[in-house]
Amino acid sequence: MFSLPCSLALLTLFTLSAALPSRPPLRTTESELTPLPLIIWHGLGDNYARDGLKAVASLAEEVNPGTYVHIIKLADSPSGDQQATFLGNVTEQVAQVCEQLASDPILSTAPAVNALGFSQGGQFLRAYVERCNFPPVRNLVTFGSQHNGISHFQSCSFSDWLCRGAEALLRSGTWTEFVQGHMVPAQYFRDPEELDAYLEHSSFLADINNEREVKNSTYRENLMKLNRFGMFMFEDDITAVPKESAWFAEVNMTSGKVTPLRERQLYKDDWLGLKALDEQGKLDFETVPGEHMRLTDTLLAKIFQEYFGPVDVDVPPSGALMKQGVF
Ligand SMILES: *[C@@H]1O[C@H](CO)[C@@H](O)[C@H](O)[C@H]1NC(C)=O
Ligand SMILES: *[C@@H]1O[C@H](CO)[C@@H](O)[C@H](O)[C@H]1NC(C)=O
Ligand SMILES: *[C@@H]1O[C@H](CO)[C@@H](O)[C@H](O)[C@H]1NC(C)=O
Repeated sequence: MFSLPCSLALLTLFTLSAALPSRPPLRTTESELTPLPLIIWHGLGDNYARDGLKAVASLAEEVNPGTYVHIIKLADSPSGDQQATFLGNVTEQVAQVCEQLASDPILSTAPAVNALGFSQGGQFLRAYVERCNFPPVRNLVTFGSQHNGISHFQSCSFSDWLCRGAEALLRSGTWTEFVQGHMVPAQYFRDPEELDAYLEHSSFLADINNEREVKNSTYRENLMKLNRFGMFMFEDDITAVPKESAWFAEVNMTSGKVTPLRERQLYKDDWLGLKALDEQGKLDFETVPGEHMRLTDTLLAKIFQEYFGPVDVDVPPSGALMKQGVF
């Protein structure tokens, strides 16, 4: 409702300038230094209404004033959203998020958005980029994400029946179609000792990592459109095993040998465009001290400044919302 009068105003100006050839031509797009909207996908066991998440959103706005923050949610109630972090078909969840973002009036008219993924939310946002990427992601930051999967299921706290039930199911039948279609962590389970079963049955990770024989070139093309991909690994992470998965490394859990991304076929044959990004200096391997998801405001603020600061983007008339301070 704001963009219409604004586009009309631009159009009028443009027509005027065309009628006065002696004057310097008016630019058809306006350059503005604005922060892009930020989308956040939270991790396992979390929900969109949690105070911690709201604090992160406030911090993002504080560091880069005017940032419009969208916290992704998969249900309308906090408990439903939390449940969706354990239960569901990730392919359907990503599709739901694609729809959610593409139908948001602000996000869908922005020239681009930035994206922040916590833990599993990180690999899910990457899947969003690979599969949909509308609105397109400019900078993607993931914290302790399991880009190369987990080879060990996290133990649940005693009181959490949902998590305990899920864990029992996970352990009993990771590769069954039922578990692959319903249990979220199973869909990014990847044990290098059982790669054949993984390649055959993994309903999510093997696909978005383009590990199967037939590659999806769209995944690569879309990921290569990122301006920057910051992968943050927690130095003492014992929750997401192995922690090096945050950097797409493969770990032999028996010998402890870590094969870094740059030595893997995924990189060498560039199934995902990561090598291309790396060669352009757009792929960052970063560490954060401490255990899984122990983040301080100071550290987050620094990262928000670095990755989500205002950018000089060409704002087309339809993005005129940004000029009006809605962002
Ligand atoms: C590749 O991924 C895109 C985006 O999800 C999809 O539309 C397309 O059908 C996929 N192509 C193949 C060959 O699977
Ligand atoms: C997950 O959902 C997709 C899309 O509806 C479907 O094609 C796929 O078979 C489902 N996966 C499993 C393992 O049920
Ligand atoms: C992992 O290391 C063990 C011990 O060195 C070795 O026997 C095994 O084959 C390795 N696994 C893979 C998948 O390379």
